[in-house]
Amino acid sequence: MYTQKVIDHFMNPRNKGKPREYDAVGKVGNPICGDVMYIYIKVNGNRIENIGWETMGCAAAISTSSMITELARGKTLEEAEKITKKDIADALDGLPPIKMHCSNLAADGLKKAIENYRKKVEK
Ligand code: FES
Repeated sequence: MYTQKVIDHFMNPRNKGKPREYDAVGKVGNPICGDVMYIYIKVNGNRIENIGWETMGCAAAISTSSMITELARGKTLEEAEKITKKDIADALDGLPPIKMHCSNLAADGLKKAIENYRKKVEK
């Protein structure tokens, strides 16, 4: 049901946990299953210098949290907010269709974190 990459990111999650320093956090929840995800970003200039996450969720939610940190790290905010659920699923060599909503969570969580960062900076 899951690809090797999904299993790898589930078993060896990358950048897991709340970083010691971060500038903004995006919290998203899945109303259907009740799972919750937090994406933390540390921004330097206009780039995501560090990114971490905490997720209470299924294997796909864990794997997509892990993968989005690999996709977003080092990117500008504009590049990072363009990452879609499909990009995340493709990077994991696919997700079972029933689990696609889980990767939605990671992309939305990152967008929320970027949105919150911008609000903070504009103040
Ligand atoms: Fe809840 Fe996957 S089942 S996020």
